Amino acid sequence: MSILVAGGAGYIGSHMVKDLIEHGEDVVVADNLSTGHRDAINPKAKFYEGDIRDRQFLDKIFDNEDITAVVHFAAFSIVPESMSKPLKYFDNNTGGMITLLEAMHDHDIKYIVFSSTAATYGVPEHMPIRETDPQKPINPYGLSKLMMEEMMAWADKAYGIKFVALRYFNVAGAAPDGTIGEDHGPETHLVPIILQVAQGKRDELSIFGDDYNTPDGTNVRDYVHVMDLADAHILAIKYLKEGNKSNAFNLGSSTGFSNKQMLEAAREVTGEPIPAKMAPRRPGDPDSLVAASDKARNILGWNPKYDDVHDIIATAWKWHSTHPKGYDDRD
Ligand code: UFG
Repeated sequence: MSILVAGGAGYIGSHMVKDLIEHGEDVVVADNLSTGHRDAINPKAKFYEGDIRDRQFLDKIFDNEDITAVVHFAAFSIVPESMSKPLKYFDNNTGGMITLLEAMHDHDIKYIVFSSTAATYGVPEHMPIRETDPQKPINPYGLSKLMMEEMMAWADKAYGIKFVALRYFNVAGAAPDGTIGEDHGPETHLVPIILQVAQGKRDELSIFGDDYNTPDGTNVRDYVHVMDLADAHILAIKYLKEGNKSNAFNLGSSTGFSNKQMLEAAREVTGEPIPAKMAPRRPGDPDSLVAASDKARNILGWNPKYDDVHDIIATAWKWHSTHPKGYDDRD
């Protein structure tokens, strides 16, 4: 019996695969390597290269392997890119979910754990954000993921496919053993960009906007460590296999850090000056996103180990400083 990790070569997916294997699970990875890396896939996982929008590809996996649950990371996730290329997001993210759910239904696979996002909430009316708060995304990325959540709800009603939607806040960090980490091309996320400046790969950090409605004017985000996030997925699989109802959970630390505070923390962790300048706002950024994550703690029994952004940044720094070119020589 195996768990299928769709998108298991990506940043979060590869940490998930590692965590599942360390918990003694058999893992099958499906990934089209459009943004992921072959070298990020744990060698103990069985790898199928292909696209989840390709029904024959999925049928081959479900026919060959004894899959009991699917963990679905195979999606695009860059907010600003979704503003300029919305249809790319609806095609891969929303479209991919249609094919995946159809194939799961036809092969009688009943459980899916899905990477949703804080971006489904749009501009929150209050903080911290609760799972029952209105979901009104302000970017195509968030909408594509909200549509995927809603599709799963209808697939549950019609076919009995049970789901857990995990709404991630800002994921950062790397496996503490330094074997895998975050490597996007091009990189758009705050923590890896700050660390690239620390490494001298970039001249300076541009902080996008200092006139937001936040204490220091820069956006506030809620950072969660990628291994804590992976643990929540393992608990979500268990929750579903125990016969519980479909559900959605926020995954965050319940503490917000501004972009300026993150820069300062990274300066402390790396000991590097990390030059920075203020720059115009980036489209699609809400002022603040901070999770209420007591639901995941109470119902799933989630107990995140990293509660200090310095520790999160330190694990990311371990990967960046030992892998200055990421997974390959692209740079
Ligand atoms: N930022 C900068 N300079 C940079 C890069 C980012 O100032 O060079 C700022 C952004 O404007 C934002 C903050 O850093 O204020 C975080 O930006 P990221 O791109 O790292 O992350 P996002 O908050 O845009 O998005 C992330 C995930 C989404 C998820 C969201 C939910 O990528 O998938 O968190 O909180 F939906």
